[in-house]
Amino acid sequence: MQTRPLTNDGPHVSEIGFGAWAIGGQWGDQDDQESKASLHAAIDRGINLIDTAQGYGEGHSERLIADVLGARSEEIFVATKTPPDSGPWPPSPYCRWQDRYSAAYLRENVHQRLNNLNRERIDLLQLHTWTAAWNDDPQPLLVLRQLKEEGKIGMIGVSTPEHDQSCVIQLMRNGLIDTIQVIFNLFQQEAAAQIFQVAEETGTGVLVRVALDEGSLTGKYGPDHLFSEDDFRHLYFQGDRQARTAKRVEAVKHDLEQFGIADQYSMADIALKYALARPEVSSVIVGMRNVDQVTKNSRVSELRNLTPEIQQHLRRHNWRRGIWYSGK
Ligand SMILES: NC(=O)c1ccc[n+]([C@@H]2O[C@H](COP(=O)([O-])OP(=O)(O)OC[C@H]3O[C@@H](n4cnc5c(N)ncnc54)[C@H](OP(=O)(O)O)[C@@H]3O)[C@@H](O)[C@H]2O)c1
Repeated sequence: MQTRPLTNDGPHVSEIGFGAWAIGGQWGDQDDQESKASLHAAIDRGINLIDTAQGYGEGHSERLIADVLGARSEEIFVATKTPPDSGPWPPSPYCRWQDRYSAAYLRENVHQRLNNLNRERIDLLQLHTWTAAWNDDPQPLLVLRQLKEEGKIGMIGVSTPEHDQSCVIQLMRNGLIDTIQVIFNLFQQEAAAQIFQVAEETGTGVLVRVALDEGSLTGKYGPDHLFSEDDFRHLYFQGDRQARTAKRVEAVKHDLEQFGIADQYSMADIALKYALARPEVSSVIVGMRNVDQVTKNSRVSELRNLTPEIQQHLRRHNWRRGIWYSGK
């Protein structure tokens, strides 16, 4: 497993990180024993970064991680997330940080995260979402800075709201955050416009999420696939979205044929390598639900990089579907 520095003076983290959403819930049937076996397998294969959140099963994902890490001696970098207090998601332009991320709320929430993870300090605490409305008065990040000084938090991060990922640019430039978590995949390439460059310029760590487009970029879901009702993808790929997505996945497959690399890389490998091709990226956190997925995804780090020609070629699959998130 190759590693990369998370920030200029931060730890080295594995190129492939463990995305722990699905093991927490909301992705249909998921067995805890399988989830724990996957976490163990990931650590055995050199994965040393795990990304979780309160929202992944109301702490269930965090508690599974604490359980597994309690039985291991390796030093694993754990990133978790604090959601805003109740209100619209993503926060509306009229939301006040005082109502969503007040100091008292943040302090209490970090305390809960520490308890769930059974740790004295959270390596990276990310605000789960943000709005540009708070950029000129980013008090919640100053509260996190205090918690950092008190030793409760190692680093501060913000996970981008899907509809306005660039709102973190001002935060990076103002030196308020150590890391960002962004969507970047073969379809959603907006981060390449400015976010990556500013991250490099400011030494901000970059965690890429959803590199497989919630599984679609593995190529295993056809146009008629229906996700079960307890899988969030039932709504995410609702209506004609599944068929439109599958058609675009086919176009990627078709495009790759001319390079004759199908025997060296699966579709999932290509999608992960495409995200890893960006030097600004510190780690691609991939959602993994079983040992087979861990084995395949961790191997990607050792595969040869995609040639500049292939990378260039794949850029044409950029698909702006930002409006998707608020439903139809
Ligand atoms: N707002 C936020 O901050 C936010 C939002 C989303 C995600 N995240 C973080 O980012 C992580 C990654 O995103 P994600 O989990 O949503 O999506 P993802 O990484 O794009 O897709 C993960 C899913 O793809 C399938 N998969 C994974 N590896 C595979 C392989 N080798 N072959 C075939 N299928 C494979 C699995 O689901 P199936 O087998 O069921 O298809 C898995 O759950 C999350 O776990 C979470 O930590 C954060």
